[in-house]
This record gives sequence, structure tokens and C-alpha cells, in this order.
Amino acid sequence: MKLSDDEKRMRDGEQGESVRMAMEILAALGEIYGAERLIPIRSAHVAGLSLKSHGLAGAQWAEDMASGGARVRIPTTMNVIGVDRSRDLKLPGDWVRDQMRIERAYECMGCYGTSTCVPYYCGFVPRFRESIAWAESSAVVFTNSVLGARDNREGGPSALAAGLTGRTPLYGLHLEENRRGDVLFRVSAPLRSTADYGAMGSYVGRMIGTRIPVFEGISSPDTEDLVYLGAALASSGGVAIFHAVGVTPEAPTREAAFGGRKYEVAEISEKEIAEGRRKLTSAKDRKVDYVAIGCPHYSLNQLRKAAGLLEGRRVHPGTVLWVHTNAAIRNMAAQLGYVQMIEAAGGIVTQDLCTVLGNPEALGFRTLATDSPKMAFYAPGSNGFQVWYGSTEECIETAVKGAWPSADV
Ligand code: F3S
Repeated sequence: MKLSDDEKRMRDGEQGESVRMAMEILAALGEIYGAERLIPIRSAHVAGLSLKSHGLAGAQWAEDMASGGARVRIPTTMNVIGVDRSRDLKLPGDWVRDQMRIERAYECMGCYGTSTCVPYYCGFVPRFRESIAWAESSAVVFTNSVLGARDNREGGPSALAAGLTGRTPLYGLHLEENRRGDVLFRVSAPLRSTADYGAMGSYVGRMIGTRIPVFEGISSPDTEDLVYLGAALASSGGVAIFHAVGVTPEAPTREAAFGGRKYEVAEISEKEIAEGRRKLTSAKDRKVDYVAIGCPHYSLNQLRKAAGLLEGRRVHPGTVLWVHTNAAIRNMAAQLGYVQMIEAAGGIVTQDLCTVLGNPEALGFRTLATDSPKMAFYAPGSNGFQVWYGSTEECIETAVKGAWPSADV
């Protein structure tokens, strides 16, 4: 791989050991994927910051990097961590302490402590065709598909390396020719809720793996619908980009989405949506002790909706309701009164953390209800929960009644 003179100086350690290590990571990645060169980027997003992902060795490594002088040179945001910095959620003390070591180390390296998987809701919005180096699969698929930015599915180390150098290898989805569709999904099912988009993403993700889906027949989705569709595709499958004809920027027409490539065709009827939903549900017992919504982190619109559904009601005494978002959106929602409405009903609006990467299982919960296809996919393995998956309305109803509304899946 060709390196510029400046990049060679970084590789040779002239700008410090952390930059040298970062260049080594990027050069190795470039060699593996056949990149000709590195390209400059303007933003990075580092994930894998939860104590679950980092572990104690990772916390020590991050502290060593920070004290050794590692500093990012481009705006670098941080993904979700495993604690809420604004309140005590009664999580184990050593968990909180060690998680905060990681948070502080990365902030010391110059990263923004956004602690969210939706930095694009907080002012970090890459331009159309701009190359970036973001980790966090749900954010990657959103930036590629909905914003038309260019990003590979970075891991935490490669995203940090990109932040430290301002470079990423030129391969994969940074190249126009690798962004075309592979399979056309003709959608005849009515998509009535964000949960239907999530169920469709779950069905398609399992079927398509890492190939690129193109949806036809989706009309005027909300941004949140596309966020949850992408999160489902990226978790149930390995999808990093999708197109929706007439909706997403690189698919004004079916022809543009495929760019002359041959493609397979599949149908999405109500049967496939029901199948996607079934695959996300693993619970049998209708009694629910934990309802968690907001994965990816809720937008202001979603918080308003949850607040409206809870108005004048109370969360069941045997059930805990957590609504996940980030500090920026939580502050705005508090200013508008939505946080107070949810918390007056007995729910908690968390910031910084999420169920999958946090440790709510330490509080003894067993059965989860969620409107998140990603949380439903990961929580059985990550948290040991049995899961009910459905709409926001079903989840709020469950929080109030203490039981999932119907045994039919
Ligand atoms: Fe975000 Fe955590 Fe879900 S990082 S996408 S809320 S698993």
C-alpha cells in the first residue's frame, strides 16, 4: 500500500508511539483488504467502549494510551458505555468504577463523550459521499444508506486508529463500485410501525448475510423507521448498507441502486414480517419484569411518543421501564417535559448506556419486552433475558400491566 511522506513519518514513529501503532493497524487492514492507499477523513466514531467489550485489560490499555499522549486529530465521537453518568441506577460499584475509567481515558485522548450510537442526532452528520471511519454497526448502516456517506464496518481499534491519524484505508464501501445492490426485495406488506421495519430487517438480515439489499415499495418512512430497519439488518445479518428505491440517496431508481448488476428478487409480504417478528421473540412467560426501549438510542420524536403513551398511567409495581437515549436528547426532552412525563409514570429515561452493552441483568431481571430488533437479537446472549419483541405501544402496555399483551407471536 502506498503511503504519503506524512503517513510514512507517522508509521516511523515521528509523531509518537500511539500514532505509530495506529498506522500499523491501518496499514495491516489496508494490506488485508487490498487497499491502494489511505484516504483522509474528517470524523471517526469509536465503539466497543462498554466494560463488557473492553474488559479490565482494555481499560488499562486505554489508560496507558491516554497517559502516553495519544490524542485524536479529527472529531471523534464515542459510542454507548455501560453506566448512566447522570444518576445511580444501583449497578454494582466496581462495574461503575471500571466503566468510568474507560470513559475518562477516551475523553483524555480527545474523544467527545457523546456515549451514544446515534451521534447523527447530536450534530455529527457526515455529508453525502464523505468518507468516514465509524464503528457501531447501526450507525454505519445509517450513515451509508440514509446519509450516503462512505464507511466500512470499523471495529473499535480501527476507528480509534483513524481518529489518531485522520486516515482510513481506501477499500470496501469507500469505493462506488462496492455500494451497488445484490438482492431486490419487493415490499407488498403494509409497514405500520417502526417495529414492522425492524421485523423486516430481521427477516432480510438473516437471509442476506453481508450482501446489499434494495427495497422497493417503501414509501415515506420516518427517519426512525430507517434507523431501526438498518439496526435489524446489521445485527441479524452483517449488512453495512441498504438502498430503498425513491427514498435513499443512492437509489433514485431501481437501476441506479443496482448500477447494471444482475440481482436476485425476493418478496416481503405480511408473512415475512410475521416471520421476522417471531424470530425476535424468545419468551414464553407473559409476565415481564423489565421493559427496555431505545436501541438505537431514542430520538426526541420517540421520547415524545413514549411520554404520550404513559400520560396519566403508572408502570406496574413488578416491572421496571428503562428508556434509553443520550445526554443531548435527554436534556432537550427534559426541557420539553417528556422526561418528566415518563418518570412521573415510574419509568426511567437513561442516558449514555443501553441494555445490551450495560449490565441490567445484575439487577435480577429475567424477561425483557422491547421494541428494538437489535436488543431482541442480542439480549438472550448478552444479558441472558427471554425476550418479547413488538411495537412501542405493546411495550408501554406491558410496562403498565406487567405482562405482554398477547401470547400470540
Ligand atoms: Fe445502541 Fe446499544 Fe442498541 S449501542 S444500537 S442502544 S445495542
